[in-house]
Amino acid sequence: MSPTNQVYIAIIGAGGVGKCFLSQLQTLAARRPSPKLSLCYISTSKKALFKNDYAPIPTENALQALASSSTAPLALPKVVEFLAAAPAKVVLVDNTSSQDVADAYPAFLSRGISIVTPNKKAFSGSYQLWQDIFTASSTSGAKVYHESSVGAGLPVISTLKDLVDTGDEVTKIEGVFSGTMSFLFNSFAPLEGEGGKWSAEVKKAKELGYTEPDPRDDLNGLDVARKLTILARLAGLPVESPTSFPVQSLIPQQLESVATGDEFLQKLPEFDSEMEGTKAAAQNQGKVVRFVGSIDVATKAVKVGLEMFDRSHPIAALKGSDNIISFYTKRYGSNPLIIQGAGAGGDVTAMGVTSDLIKVLAQI
Ligand SMILES: NC(=O)c1ccc[n+]([C@@H]2O[C@H](COP(=O)([O-])OP(=O)(O)OC[C@H]3O[C@@H](n4cnc5c(N)ncnc54)[C@H](OP(=O)(O)O)[C@@H]3O)[C@@H](O)[C@H]2O)c1
Repeated sequence: MSPTNQVYIAIIGAGGVGKCFLSQLQTLAARRPSPKLSLCYISTSKKALFKNDYAPIPTENALQALASSSTAPLALPKVVEFLAAAPAKVVLVDNTSSQDVADAYPAFLSRGISIVTPNKKAFSGSYQLWQDIFTASSTSGAKVYHESSVGAGLPVISTLKDLVDTGDEVTKIEGVFSGTMSFLFNSFAPLEGEGGKWSAEVKKAKELGYTEPDPRDDLNGLDVARKLTILARLAGLPVESPTSFPVQSLIPQQLESVATGDEFLQKLPEFDSEMEGTKAAAQNQGKVVRFVGSIDVATKAVKVGLEMFDRSHPIAALKGSDNIISFYTKRYGSNPLIIQGAGAGGDVTAMGVTSDLIKVLAQI
C-alpha cells in the first residue's frame, strides 16, 4: 500500500477514554476507508503491543490482546524512534494524564509525528513547554490538537481558535469548567429547594463516582486552573503556569494535610458552617454561589473560585454535572456565545479526540 493511503495510529493510554477512542477509531475506519488507519502501537503504563515491522494490530480485539501481552512499554525516546521510522505518517493519540508523555511532545512533533490528546498537562504546564510544542509543530509541519483538554468533547477550543483566527476580539471567558464542581454546587445550592449540607454533597458526589478517589484533588481548584491556563494562552495571554494566578481552594486549611481522602471526608462536616455562610450570603441577595473560572483578556486577570450569580444567569441554571463556557466578544456584543453540555465521560471525551484525528488526517 502506498504510504499516502495509509496512516499509522499509536495509542498511549487505554483507560476510560482510551477504550472509547478505540471503539470510535473502528467506526471511523469503517466510515472513511481512505486513508487506511493502521494501529501500530498501543500501551498502558505496564504493557504494550507492537510489531517491529509495523504490522497492523487488529482494533477489534486490541484491548484483550493488550491485557494478555507480556511486552513492557517502550521508553518514550524509543517510542519516538519507533514511530519516526514507520513507513507512513503517524498520529500519536495520548490518552493518559501523564506529565512524562506530555513532556515528550516536542520530541514527537519535531520528528513529524502528529498528536491528538485530551491530556491537559502539556498545554497547562510551563509556558516554555507550550512554546516548544508549537515551535516543533510549525517547524516540522506535524499537527497537534487537544480539543478534549477543556470541556471534554464540547467544541470549546476550536470555537475560541475560530473567534481569534477570524479577527474577533475576545474580551472575557467565563464558565463552569469542572463536572465535579458543577454537580456539587447544583446540589448544594440549587435554584429550587434548599440543597444539602456541603460535606454531605461532597460525600454523595464521591459515592456516585463524580470525584477523584481523594475529593481534595477536585476541591483544590487546580483542574479548573489548568483549563483556564489553556484558554488564556489561546486568547493570547502568556500565562506562566496554573499556579501563577489566584485559585481558590475549597479544602479547609486544617484538612489539607490529613492522610487520606476518607479521613478528609470524615472531618469535613466540622467545616460546614463556612460554606453554609457563603450559601446564605448569596441567598440574601437573591443569588446562588457557583465555582467558576474567568479570564478578563483586557486586564489580563485570570481567576478561579466562588462567585455569586443572579438566579436568572445561565451559570446559575446549569443542571447535573454539565459544563458551561461563555465567550464575550466584540462581535457577539452583550449576549455571549455560550457552549454547554457534558464536560466529562469517556464517550464524549473520546469524540473530541476522534474529531481532532479527523482534522489531522485532512492535513497530513
Ligand atoms: N474521563 C473523562 O471524563 C475525561 C474528560 C476530559 C479529559 N480527560 C482526560 O483524558 C485523559 C484520560 O483519562 P481517563 O479517564 O481515560 O484516565 P484513566 O482511565 O486513568 O486511563 C489512563 C490510561 O493511561 C495509562 N497511562 C498512564 N500513565 C501512562 C504512561 N506514563 N505511559 C503509558 N500509559 C500510561 C494508564 O495505564 P495504567 O492503567 O497501566 O496506569 C491508563 O491506561 C486524561 O488526561 C484526562 O484528564 C478525561
